[in-house]
Formats: sequence, C-alpha cells, structure tokens
Amino acid sequence: MTDPKRYLITSALPYANGLKHVGHLAGAYIPADIYARYLRAQKRDVVFVCGSDEHGTAIPIQAMKEGTTSRAIIDKYHQAIKDDFSDLDISFDIYHRTSEPIHHETAQEFFTKLNDAGELETKETEQYYDESTKTFLADRYIKGTCPNCGSDRAFGDQCENCGTTLSPDELINPVSTLSGATPVKKKTTHWYLPLGKHEQFLRDWILEEHKDDWRATVAGQCKGWIDGGLQSRAVTRDLDWGIKVPLKEAEGKVLYVWFDAPIGYISATKQWAINNKKDWKPYWEDKDTKLVHFIGKDNIVFHCIIFPIMLKLHGNILPDNVPANEFLNLEGDKMSTSRNWKLEMRDYINDFVKKENGGGQCVDMLRYYLTQIAPETKDSEFMWKGFQDAVNSELVSVFGNFVNRTFVLMHKLCKGKVPKLHEDILDDNDKSLIAEIENTKAEVQSAIEYYHFKDALFQIIDLSRKGNQYMQKKEPWIVAKLTTDDGPQSIAAQKSIDNTLHICLQLCANLAVLINPFLPNTAKKMLYMMKVVDKMLDWDNAGKLKLLSVGYSLREPQLLFRKIEDTEIAEQIEKLKAGLVKQETPKKMEEPKVTTVKAEIVYDDFAKLELKAGTVTACEKVAKADKLLKLEVDLGTEKRTIVSGIALHYSPEEMVGKQVVVVTNLAPRKMKGIESQGMILTAEDSDGKLQLLKPENPVSPGSNVS
Ligand code: 2FM
Ligand code: ZN
Repeated sequence: MTDPKRYLITSALPYANGLKHVGHLAGAYIPADIYARYLRAQKRDVVFVCGSDEHGTAIPIQAMKEGTTSRAIIDKYHQAIKDDFSDLDISFDIYHRTSEPIHHETAQEFFTKLNDAGELETKETEQYYDESTKTFLADRYIKGTCPNCGSDRAFGDQCENCGTTLSPDELINPVSTLSGATPVKKKTTHWYLPLGKHEQFLRDWILEEHKDDWRATVAGQCKGWIDGGLQSRAVTRDLDWGIKVPLKEAEGKVLYVWFDAPIGYISATKQWAINNKKDWKPYWEDKDTKLVHFIGKDNIVFHCIIFPIMLKLHGNILPDNVPANEFLNLEGDKMSTSRNWKLEMRDYINDFVKKENGGGQCVDMLRYYLTQIAPETKDSEFMWKGFQDAVNSELVSVFGNFVNRTFVLMHKLCKGKVPKLHEDILDDNDKSLIAEIENTKAEVQSAIEYYHFKDALFQIIDLSRKGNQYMQKKEPWIVAKLTTDDGPQSIAAQKSIDNTLHICLQLCANLAVLINPFLPNTAKKMLYMMKVVDKMLDWDNAGKLKLLSVGYSLREPQLLFRKIEDTEIAEQIEKLKAGLVKQETPKKMEEPKVTTVKAEIVYDDFAKLELKAGTVTACEKVAKADKLLKLEVDLGTEKRTIVSGIALHYSPEEMVGKQVVVVTNLAPRKMKGIESQGMILTAEDSDGKLQLLKPENPVSPGSNVS
C-alpha cells in the first residue's frame, strides 16, 4: 500500500494482572511508538491506540493471589501500566481499558452481528465442573500434578515449574483451585467461530497477497496454523468475569477474552474519536486506512488468523501488516514471572529514570538498547553488560561525543554562532559528508517503512560516527592555530573552520530530526541547544543542509547521555539473581534406560560428523504422515529443508523460532517425496517423548557443535 490516507497503529493490550517487563516493551510498544512518532513527524493522519486487557481468567486469578477483587486488580494494574508507559514516553493517542461500557457494547455488537449472520456455531462439550461452588472450571482454575516434571504447581493450561503446555485432562489428581474439591465432568454449550470455513481467504490474503511484505517468522507461523488444519474456536466461556454474552440462552456465560480483547482496538479508537471530536469509522471501515498491529509472537494466531476473520465477517478493514517480534531473554534465560526472572519497566524507571542523574536521558538509553537488540527476526538477549556497552560506546562516545564537540568547537572557534558555508572551497571530505547527510534520510525512511527499526537506528548512529571521522580528518582545532592575524593564510584557515563547523552543525540538526522517533528526549535537548522550535523536527527537514541559519547564536552544549558505571550493572545483576525463585527439582523423572550399547568409536569416527546449531524459520506438517514435520532451518549461510519425525511431540507453530542441533553432512534422503537435507537431534525421555537437543542459550545460526 502506498501513501494511505490515514494510519491506525495498535500495540497489544497488556493484561491488567501485573506489571509488564522490558520484553513486552521491546516487542510491542517501542517499535509501535517509533513508527507512530515517525508518521506524526511526516504530518500523516495517525492514531496510535492501546489499553488494558481486563478480562479473562488472568484477572480473577490475580485477585485470588492478592486476596482482593477482580475490580481492584484491574484498577490497580491499569493505572500502574499506564503510568509506566507514560514514564517511558510511549506516545499512545489513547490508553483505554476493556472494562469501559463503550467496549462492552462494541464487543457485544460484534458478537451479535456475527451470530445473527449465522457465522457462529454452537457445540455441547464436557468440561470440568466444581460442584461445591457450582462453577465450570476454566483451565487456570484446575491445579494438579504435572505429568512432565511431577511438580504440584501445574495448572490446566501450563505447568508453572517446567513450562510445559498442558490440557486439563493431562493433569494428575486435578483439583479445583476455588474449593480444593475434585472436579467432575459436566456438559456445557458454547459458541464457536469456525475458522476452517475461512481457510482459502487466509491463504489468499496472507500467503499470496502479503507473501512479500510480512515477516517470514509471522507468515511461517500462519502457514503452520493453516496447514495444520484450522479448528473451530470457542468464543464464549463459563465464567463470572468478562463481557456478558448478549443472548438470553447464554446466562452465566461471557465472551472469551481473546474475542473481546482485539475489539478493544476499535473501542479505543471510538473513545479517542469522542475525546477529539473526530469520526472513528474511517479508521476501521475505509480501505484507505493502513492498519498495523504491533505484537509479540505469542499473539500471532489471534492477530493474523482469528481477528482478521472476525473483521472480515463484520465488514471492517484488515491489517496491512503485523510486524510481530520474537521474544527477549534476560541474562541468558527466558523471562519468567513465576520464577521472577525479569526486568519490569517499573524497576528500570525507579533505578534509572527517577534517580538524580536519570530523567529523559535514561528513558532514551533504554529505548536505544531495546531497539538495538529488538528481536525482529529471532529471539534476542537483554544483557546488562550489553546495555552498558551500547550506552557508553555508542550513545556517549559516538552520538553524544559528536554533538558535544561540534558545539564546544563552534563556541570556541566561531563565537557561538552558526558560521558561513564557503562553497568555493568545499573539499572532498566536506562533499562526501554532505552527500551522506542527504542519503541517510532515504535509508532510514525505507528501513522504518519495512519495520526494520534496528537497522534504521544503526544508520543514524553510523551517520554520527561519520561526523566524528570527518571532524577528525578536518581537525579544526589544529587549523585554528593558523588564525593568528588578518593575513590571507589566516583568512583561509578561518574559512576552512567555518565550513567544518557549518556542516557539522547542519548534521547535528539532521541527527535531531532522524533520532526523534527513536529517542524523543534527546531530540528535544538538541532543539534546546540549537534554540529552534519543535517544527524543525518535521521529517521533511531530514536530508536538508540549511536547517540552521548562518549567524544564529546557539546555546552552550549539554551532555546528551551520561555513562553507565560498572557498579550500576553489578547491582542490577545482583538484584536479578537474588530475586530468582528456584525451579523445583523434578520429582518423577526416571533414569533413562540405555537399551543398546554400540561399539566403541575413536575420536576420528566422531569427527566425521558435522554438527551445527540452526534456527527453525518455518515448519509445517507433512501431508499423510502423522509423525513427520517439514522444517526450514536457518544455518547462517544457508537454509535447509529437514524432515523430522517429531510431529507427535511438537506442533509446527511451537517449532518456529526454536534452535536445534543439525547433522549437516548426512547424505540427503527423500521422505514422503520431500528431500531431507540433514537431521535434527533429540533425546527420548522416560515417557517416550522426544525432547529437542538445543544450546542452553541462543547462539548464532551456523555455530559449530562439538
Ligand atoms: O498476550 C497478552 O498480553 C494479551 N493481553 C494481548 C491482547 S492483544 C489484543 F488482542 F488485545
Ligand atoms: Zn512440569
């Protein structure tokens, strides 16, 4: 889509059941904020919406934990999350909430329209029921023993100890968390959205229309879902917390949280329109709107499959792109709330932003690092040492240093004013930097428009690096030694200094425009130093060389960024480790039985194997083969197709993004007509389940395994 009339940007609505961590921030909020700020700087019509997701079992469960009501939980966390986003300068046009009446009405109208049009089906199933409290038990309301690790911290959907995804039927000795009673099975009727009916639409829309512009990780996951067979999804639940199903015969039932939550984007837009006396409809009904959903990879199926079907059936526009990010790990391990291995936004705000030497610069430092390590194509890692390096060796030593030395020298050598540009004496260094300034705009712009935010940021820092190199070549502080009298040599020297500082100052102004969507506080500080108004940050000004007028006097420089000290990093790592809740030791794991003992080999036999780590970029079931999955594995320098017999143990969608160990020099062989170009390694546990062998921490695809 080129030049749409308007943009609607959404960030995943966070559950109002707890504080959110920097993984969330990097995945769905910072990229969306960069994009929104960029579009606003282009003077586009853009609305950026978000809000709290206040339904689902996550809320009453948190209320139970905290010994309070669901209402108290959403009020507490809605405000806390909203404040955290605001402290980190995420510039939503509205941060709404799904408990608002306008949202309940919007979601109910959606359900009614789909149901009246015959697009929903009803089905009777058996579900666990707690007879003592007369309640159907949602997955999270059933606790039991994990069949995988033996922990008693397993719920009907997942084990808190080992993370295995479960269904209530798999739990050993299930009990109701409401009463402790053993639940019984009871019949209940629910409304379903038959996804299978829309398979062709999804294939055409995602796999054809958007085959070139959606991220491979996103399209790959969608393909996995579609090829795996789309099952009907229940859109109602037996629960007393949520939006009532607007039907007489559905007494006691609410809309499934994943039915109502994305509709929250629409109700947020409606409320924004009311607040701003605008019309919300074109944003959701006019095809000339570009809708972009920013989410984490765990939300892909809802935003790319289920919600688009709902939007289509309801007569709304579809997202133009869903640039979902992969996950952010922390110091070598998965972020986890139950194990308390996480860095919450609030922790960073308290420990850096609100400290005496914090403020906007610390907000920008985090925004910088999280963009630099954004998990755009694969999971990535937040390392405190990496944060320190990014700040100290890039923001302080490259970007900040360039701006600072330009201002210091301009005050020292040009009387604090923007010097003239003497076009007659421009040398190759001047010309080449001028060309870089002009060209960088297009590169940054194109990267942002393709949602390659880390690349865009790299280009900007690189431009400031080129500014430093230029300054180093021109050495105005040395040239200044020649400006001792009024003689011709002295005049020529001053002209050279003028040119150097004129170009560097125009570069500073350009850097402010370019960095603004990423680091808004830095851009503002630069505006203050240049004594110019916000208008200068219009994107249109990027690439121009006359942003600062000759003779205009500028302020003394301010340091843009402070250094991060070793002690600060050590404290954070210490704090993280001290707070870790240890995993239980597995109770039930039996010693694996060694069933065969092969003949001894010498090292040379082993050395014949070529083993490499790879990342699965796409995965689908192999037709007419229950046990086989077809994987596409990125090995750094090449991608290979591998057919593996793990389909009974892993679903295609959970494989995407996983690291695997591949035997890469095995002769190719055909399975079900597909050539398998390698083999992935697994271990069999005591239950006969295959477990992937993979590096403990993510490594670059193609890394040797020995
Ligand atoms: O995964 C989550 O945190 C969900 N609350 C995201 C909802 S996004 C949208 F659909 F509202
Ligand atoms: Zn477990």
